Amino acid sequence: MKELKIPLIKDGTVIDHIDSGNAVKVLHILRIPKNLSSTVSVAMNVNSKLGKKDIVKVENRELHPKEVNKIALIAPKSTINIIRNYEVAKKYKVKVPDEIVGIVTCSNPTCISNAREPVESKFKVISKDPPKIRCYYCEREPEDIADRII
Ligand code: CTP
Ligand code: ZN
Repeated sequence: MKELKIPLIKDGTVIDHIDSGNAVKVLHILRIPKNLSSTVSVAMNVNSKLGKKDIVKVENRELHPKEVNKIALIAPKSTINIIRNYEVAKKYKVKVPDEIVGIVTCSNPTCISNAREPVESKFKVISKDPPKIRCYYCEREPEDIADRII
């Protein structure tokens, strides 16, 4: 119990094993604190078996697959735990897909995916951890993926 940094939750989602320092980006993806309806707890730079990590616990909320895909791009080692009545009902590791469609905007202002064309952004994933992506149309590799997530 000495190790317990933030309380266990009754129902909701725990995003665990977030790369240390990236909890704020996870909150941003989940649009927190905007649209806040229940308690959210955050722990940063917590000791774990595999070094330091961040943890985000969102009570009474389960995540959409699209939100999980976004989290994978900034916290590729993270685990999603769905908590029901204090028990871990489901646990899975996020997965960085081979291709990112419509989630990140291209950093090249003249890219066709940024023009007023009905062309959705599309990237090939060239590295999964750390995530590196390359635009399918203009080959640009955005460096600030977290800031380009829609
Ligand atoms: N957790 C929680 N509330 C609960 C149950 C679990 O907040 N009622 C949190 C734990 O604090 C932990 C995460 O959910 O951060 C996963 O819980 P658990 O699987 O019990 O922990 P570990 O076995 O350490 O997980 P892992 O093997 O994924 O590191
Ligand atoms: Zn592009």
